[in-house]
Amino acid sequence: MRVSHLNWVEISEKNLLRNISVIRNLIGREIKLMVVVKSNAYGHGMIEVATIALKGSVDWLGVNSIEEGIALRDNKIDAPTLILGYVPLTDLEDAVHQNLRLTVYNMETVRALDAIGDRVKKNIPIHVKIETGTNRQGIQGKKLSNLLDFINSSPSLKLEGISTHFANIEDTTDHSFAQFQLNEFKRMEGEFFKNETNLLRHTACTAAVLLFPETYFEMVRAGIGIYGLWPSKQTKVSCSMEGKKIPELKPVLTWKTKIAQLKDVPDDSYISYGCTYRTTRDSKIAVLPVGYYDGYPRAFSNVSYVLVKGRRAPVRGRVCMNIILADVTDIQDVKLEDEVVLLGKQGEEEITADYLAGLGGTINYEIVTSINPSLKRVVTK
Ligand SMILES: Cc1ncc(COP(=O)(O)O)c(C=O)c1O
Repeated sequence: MRVSHLNWVEISEKNLLRNISVIRNLIGREIKLMVVVKSNAYGHGMIEVATIALKGSVDWLGVNSIEEGIALRDNKIDAPTLILGYVPLTDLEDAVHQNLRLTVYNMETVRALDAIGDRVKKNIPIHVKIETGTNRQGIQGKKLSNLLDFINSSPSLKLEGISTHFANIEDTTDHSFAQFQLNEFKRMEGEFFKNETNLLRHTACTAAVLLFPETYFEMVRAGIGIYGLWPSKQTKVSCSMEGKKIPELKPVLTWKTKIAQLKDVPDDSYISYGCTYRTTRDSKIAVLPVGYYDGYPRAFSNVSYVLVKGRRAPVRGRVCMNIILADVTDIQDVKLEDEVVLLGKQGEEEITADYLAGLGGTINYEIVTSINPSLKRVVTK
């Protein structure tokens, strides 16, 4: 299928590399930086982002699935890559062949890897994920001990890293639970890994990078900050409460479309499905070829706006599957195929992912990752 140009995403190479430098300056030279490019690089375009990121001071990439890892390899991106999510037992051998590192927390996975290593005569590096309180992926005390006994007795498996993930570091200014998880991580490290050398320990997401150097260990895993977005308002508030300088992160993504039709709609006319909007004057309406299929949420019906000629144009009526309608009555000289910004800057105006997240009752992560991967990603220098 041809890539649609009805609406598209632009990625600023400059801002991406700048955000990487900001994070690098925070962690210093010694600590490894993993850029998390899972979920199509948070909607930004995985191949485009990984290619640019590796021009900066980046050591590792983080993906969620084997499919994402293989897509990197198919595009000749050979940087060390950790799969953060679950890999089905039937796919483990492909991951080993592609030199994709695995996060493990099940005995079944390490047994299968041991057998693969034996068969293909390869040493397989693994990262064990430790449960410290998120109760998502991760392995707990007793089971961890059995898992490690197995790994240590296997000639094919090599423990390369240990990790955990914080449950409550973004959405709060009370960091006591994060501190509890960090203490748990250290306690379990002392109990189970004290004889290990050269381990890559990694716990920190963006919020931890911004707030707590004690979470850095040998490597950090940064996602949202690399894309120029803050994990939350609370993270920013926490930064200032800690007396830290607020680093300047610059959004990387601009989502655009162009006007597909302009029409004069008389006063007292309904607009779009469900007749939820009725004009209160003679209006000029721009038909825009973007909808909830593309990732523009239906929840934005009648509440969001877009930018046309650097000015705000309110979205009128329901967001449709492939179309939205914007009121451009007050904007002069609007023409067919004029560029429209759905998310990002135009002139002096800006629509931020945080603003849209507020409208949709969600977080900026969901706004950007929801943009349909089939849309073209265009890199701007
Ligand atoms: C395991 C893991 N590490 C790191 C990250 C990156 O988090 P952030 O985008 O907040 O930096 C994520 C994101 O969801 C994750 O799931």
